[in-house]
Amino acid sequence: MRFLFLLCLKILEPEEASLLPPRPSCSITTGLLVTGCLLLVLCGAWLLGTMFWLHGPSNQHLIPEAWRFDCYPERGVVVTKELCEARNCCFIPASSPSSSATRPPGRNGIPWCFYPLDFPSYSLVSIEDTSMGQKAKLVREVKTYYPADIFTLELDIRHETDTRLHVRITDPSNARFEVPISVPTATKKAENPQYTVELSKDPFGVIVKRRSTGAVVLNTTVAPLFYADQFLQFSTSLPSQFIYGLGEHRSTFLHDVHWNTLTMWARDVPPMEKTNLYGVHPFYLAVENEGNAHGFFFLNSNAMDVVLQPAPAVTWRTIGGILDFYVFLGPDPGSVVEQYVDVIGHPAMPIYWALGYHLCRWGYKTSDATWEVVKSMRNYKIPQDVQWNDIDYMSQYMDFTFDSTNFATLPDLVKDLHTHNQRYVMILDPGISSTQPQGSYWPYDEGLKRGVFIKDAEGKTLIGKVWPGLTAYPDFSDNVTHEWWYDNLRRFHEKVPFDGLWIDMNEPSSFVDGSTNGCPSNSIENPPYTPGVLGGLLRGKTVCASAQQKQSLHYNMHSLYGLLEAKASASALKRILAKRPFVISRSTFPSQGMYSGHWLGDNRSQWKDLYTSIAGMLTFNLLGIPLVGADICGFSEDAQEELCVRWTQLGAFYPFTRNHNSIDTKPQDPTAFSPLAQTAMKQALLLRYSLFPVLYTLFHHAHVHGHTVARPLMFEFPKDVKTYGNDKQFLWGKGLLVTPVLEAGVDYVNGYFPEGLWYDYYTGDSVSSKGEELRLGAPLDKINLHLREGTVIPTQTPNLTLWVSSGQPLHLVSALSGDGSATGDLFWDDGETIDTYETNQYAYIIFNKTMTSQVLHNNVEASNITVESATFYGVKEKPSKVLVNSKDAHFTYRANQVLTVDDLELKLSQNFTISWM
Ligand code: NOJ
Repeated sequence: MRFLFLLCLKILEPEEASLLPPRPSCSITTGLLVTGCLLLVLCGAWLLGTMFWLHGPSNQHLIPEAWRFDCYPERGVVVTKELCEARNCCFIPASSPSSSATRPPGRNGIPWCFYPLDFPSYSLVSIEDTSMGQKAKLVREVKTYYPADIFTLELDIRHETDTRLHVRITDPSNARFEVPISVPTATKKAENPQYTVELSKDPFGVIVKRRSTGAVVLNTTVAPLFYADQFLQFSTSLPSQFIYGLGEHRSTFLHDVHWNTLTMWARDVPPMEKTNLYGVHPFYLAVENEGNAHGFFFLNSNAMDVVLQPAPAVTWRTIGGILDFYVFLGPDPGSVVEQYVDVIGHPAMPIYWALGYHLCRWGYKTSDATWEVVKSMRNYKIPQDVQWNDIDYMSQYMDFTFDSTNFATLPDLVKDLHTHNQRYVMILDPGISSTQPQGSYWPYDEGLKRGVFIKDAEGKTLIGKVWPGLTAYPDFSDNVTHEWWYDNLRRFHEKVPFDGLWIDMNEPSSFVDGSTNGCPSNSIENPPYTPGVLGGLLRGKTVCASAQQKQSLHYNMHSLYGLLEAKASASALKRILAKRPFVISRSTFPSQGMYSGHWLGDNRSQWKDLYTSIAGMLTFNLLGIPLVGADICGFSEDAQEELCVRWTQLGAFYPFTRNHNSIDTKPQDPTAFSPLAQTAMKQALLLRYSLFPVLYTLFHHAHVHGHTVARPLMFEFPKDVKTYGNDKQFLWGKGLLVTPVLEAGVDYVNGYFPEGLWYDYYTGDSVSSKGEELRLGAPLDKINLHLREGTVIPTQTPNLTLWVSSGQPLHLVSALSGDGSATGDLFWDDGETIDTYETNQYAYIIFNKTMTSQVLHNNVEASNITVESATFYGVKEKPSKVLVNSKDAHFTYRANQVLTVDDLELKLSQNFTISWM
């Protein structure tokens, strides 16, 4: 729109105008009155229809407020008319009280200082076809108000697949930092792209449309392009206000587009709104008006702001790297995520026990106290697969040590866990103590010898401060460091045979800003523009931006720290244990799902945190890290019993389910509460364990196809607008709906049921919804679960560990659709071996119609698993006969249309049929 508009302006303005310093065109009265009138004649009805003219107070201003692109994003500055016009921008105070001339970090408002429509940008001066698309030269004539503009750029457009467009804008004269993750290299141009690409020449812009509907999914002509050394910015219109993703932030699942700046820069801080948090994920999924969805991934790791505004539009503002982005055409939300993870890497298939219940706290204080909790869980017969320890197991909080006084029995505890088919996970922080007497602490001495630590700007080991006091930081961008990390883990594993790793504090976090020696004063530490990072400084609670890593400056590598540590940790675990590695990381970056899961950080024991955990979990599923959960019952503050029960119920449906608690807070493991609460928690966990075959199969689909595990309702019902903002309920896969209680003192919950038949999971009672909200009973010991029509799920009798329960016979539950059909599947393998799918060591069975099982793949002994019974919801009439593999079978039928066939003893490895008449 802006492009056409500018075209109109070009027609009307004298040729030389573009050579003159820019003249802001902000309102009808400031310079464009005449042109505007002519415009009306020339561009006529087209322009009349646009909001540029129809919006805004008394039609006074040319640019509606929603379409103002901020020309003065610097925080803490009172933007005056003079300052604004010095940038050749328009200064018009906004009408709304929420607007502001100054914006303290993280605060937003309608910009008072914004780009005029004719603000100079790049123009496209030459273009050529390539085997993958097009290459073009972009030139900027007029310098911007940031230093070191790169005046000539190269544009490379690659039609990589029918649903994936890749655009790179680089500096042809100087190599710039590029994110070191491996992305696919397409070699053949897409033959039937679902998109069209138009290039606007002057000003330059890319317009991408969905071929089938004409929906504009990207239009970068709406604001000028910046490409200076430390300030790169582009904006695009959005086809609707429905936008998701953009982690890691505390927010609703559906983002607010009302002047909402989401800053990205890995940061150790308890989750709060409008603050950059532990991870960085520059990816969004947006819904178009027809219900189609597309995705956008900006492959850049520098500190950045992502500004959402109600136009709707989004601005990407980063301070380094290159412009490298992907557009994914979906067209449904699930396929957008599949296409995204095809680029960043598919999530790993977790080891089976990763899906069990994990118990942790900071402040067990001794290994015996930790052991007591494990024993108590066993006594009360509450499922538990994994016990964890926080930093208190270490000697003086030093990695690869354990406190030989208070944790003297740790090796025995771990052995005991193993005897009970349970596992042990320990924490590691990246900071390595640098103050131990020489020769007494191998990790530091050896690290120094091998040169693994991050260096300061002068090349000396950079020293920060974490739990053990002064620390050096391993540089995981160097393979030498990976080897050193592995050696440390291998040596420690000989003492304490841990099974998995919890990597914390890896933003990386420091208790001092930068280093104990401060940081140099230069443009790396104090860039011309600093995004809205918490505290306003890049070095805030981390190492200096100017610190040196093997692959680049920390300025570029900062938000990759967690990813690279996770990569080193997963690879070391594979070598040590020869099984699928289990790693849970606090800091994350795109592609991390290949190496680790994530927990949502230091939440509080509050109802609000219970609620926001759903959005966090759903967002990470969309970001390709499905193994995610929040600290169940909350990390900081004492957890009240009712909250903890409700949280355990919801947490039983986090893909990664761990109860974790801060130091000096009351115990909050299930055994710490009243018998009533304990029973309710136990029931929730047993329910999870009984659903393990479903969850495991969903992870298989995440691994192989890039599907989400915990899934927003809008993924399955993208045409139902009522699902768009729903972050109080979610699905497992396509058909198991979870409706948790999220508030205190209630014994009911309201849940939305998209159109169709839904069955109460526990009773089989059906509800036919027209797309309505229903009130459901929810006493303290119940979490509501519903099966969507057409779903078959395999379940198992639960037990105290997944090791035991996953050997149990299967019970199939089939929720029939109106026409009597249903489908489901099961992926099964030994649960631990690396790459079973890739190396054909698995079984895969689908369940169809009413009901046929088809063994599509059987390369492991699935025959030792049997199907014991099958229940069918929605069998309209009592059958006179039920046939199993053509033989009469015993069955029961209940008035609520539930048919159960038991004593089946069917071998899973052989096809079978159950039918009735
Ligand atoms: C911060 C982590 O987020 C938290 O989970 C942990 O308990 C503390 N560090 C202590 O290690």
